[in-house]
Amino acid sequence: MKVMVLGKGGRESAIVWKLSMSSYIDELYAVPGNPGTKKYAHNIQLNLEDFKTLAEFVKENKIEMVIPGPETPIANGIKDYIEEKTGTYVFSPSSKSSFLEASKIKAKQFMKRNNVPTADFRIIESYEGGVNYLNLIEKYPVVIKADGLAQGKGVSIAQSHIEAVSILEEYIKGKKFGEASTRVVIEEFLTGYEYSVFIITDGRDYIWIGDACDYKRAFDGDRGPNTGGMGSVSPAPFLDSGKRKITEEEIIKPTLEGLIKEAIPYEGFLYFGLIWTEDGPKVLEYNVRLGDPEAQVILPRLKNDLMDLIIAAKERRLNQVVVEISKEVCMCLVVASGGYPVEYEKGKEIKGLEKLSHQVILFHAGTEERENKIYTAGGRVLNLVAMGKDFENVRRHIYREVEKIHFENIFYRRDIGLMERWR
Ligand code: AMP
Ligand code: GLY
Repeated sequence: MKVMVLGKGGRESAIVWKLSMSSYIDELYAVPGNPGTKKYAHNIQLNLEDFKTLAEFVKENKIEMVIPGPETPIANGIKDYIEEKTGTYVFSPSSKSSFLEASKIKAKQFMKRNNVPTADFRIIESYEGGVNYLNLIEKYPVVIKADGLAQGKGVSIAQSHIEAVSILEEYIKGKKFGEASTRVVIEEFLTGYEYSVFIITDGRDYIWIGDACDYKRAFDGDRGPNTGGMGSVSPAPFLDSGKRKITEEEIIKPTLEGLIKEAIPYEGFLYFGLIWTEDGPKVLEYNVRLGDPEAQVILPRLKNDLMDLIIAAKERRLNQVVVEISKEVCMCLVVASGGYPVEYEKGKEIKGLEKLSHQVILFHAGTEERENKIYTAGGRVLNLVAMGKDFENVRRHIYREVEKIHFENIFYRRDIGLMERWR
């Protein structure tokens, strides 16, 4: 088969790497890909917003399946467009079903209608309405979320009334995230252990393909600004089989039942961003794709041929699939540019990559290649991934290896994979 993966980050590097081992695939394309995916796929420099050109490429090259990595093309309707123009299958939800991620308001309303546990919330449609609501609140912090897509940056935690009002002003009046933040959700602040669960579903059946925890804050000890993720571990260290069962019964099944009841077709990956509270698991968010950097730790542990699972979803026979996940643990360290996620420089030459041990998997994220040299080209630059018997050994190994990599202002957290967090 000829398969095309859309995207260029660490997550897409992991998807391409995993698919490169598939017995179904003769030719793999990464659009646009990165200097790392070049090893496994043809990198094709096309714009992910230009659906017309993408569809022409699919037709001309007889691509038989398209797998989008990031949420934006999914929310913009890549599935509907490519399938209609070319007849080629796109493994993702349609634009209509992507509201689970693309609108926090619609997602919260969906959870409420379908008894999926989540933080209590109020939908805010205007600045004045928001201030009136905040005047009634006594308990802080509260969480304020832009309704629309904001590249993972649309969530703020307000410690006080004053702070909450100023966030509302920024979001709604100041349009901090454009139209995406003119309406917001204000919700109850939850405490507990955060974890992420990934399934493949055809909208009726599902398979659990992995669970993970990511490290969202920029600095050690979970301090500093929120980022896309500075590292990840799989499995989620505190998630025993009892908690997994509860997660399936209380979160995953009611979600799928809700989709069926409301006649919302959904196929593709579905990512549950969860928190285990004193009252059990609750949904913080849904995403209609794999996580980044969670894909980088769940895909190496997945023993199945990923295409077997995707084809089973396409053919509506997920109930016949047996998922096999390695007992080994996996960790990903994100190597970033100093200053990320706020301001950082690009274009720094990266040295030492050739010295890495073959036991670590290197995924490129924000890099570019010029005249056979690799340069930084983004905030999150590289991912170092390794598997092993326990996190202690794996983290020691990764932190030894990362010493071999050099570029100006290199920056990474030192506490990824430490288990203290879950004790
Ligand atoms: P979201 O994009 O909705 O997952 O939010 C991003 C991050 O903000 C989450 O991963 C949590 O760390 C935090 N967060 C979101 N909602 C809440 C909440 N209700 N209580 C506490 N933290 C939250
Ligand atoms: N790591 C969080 C996300 O992919 O949304």
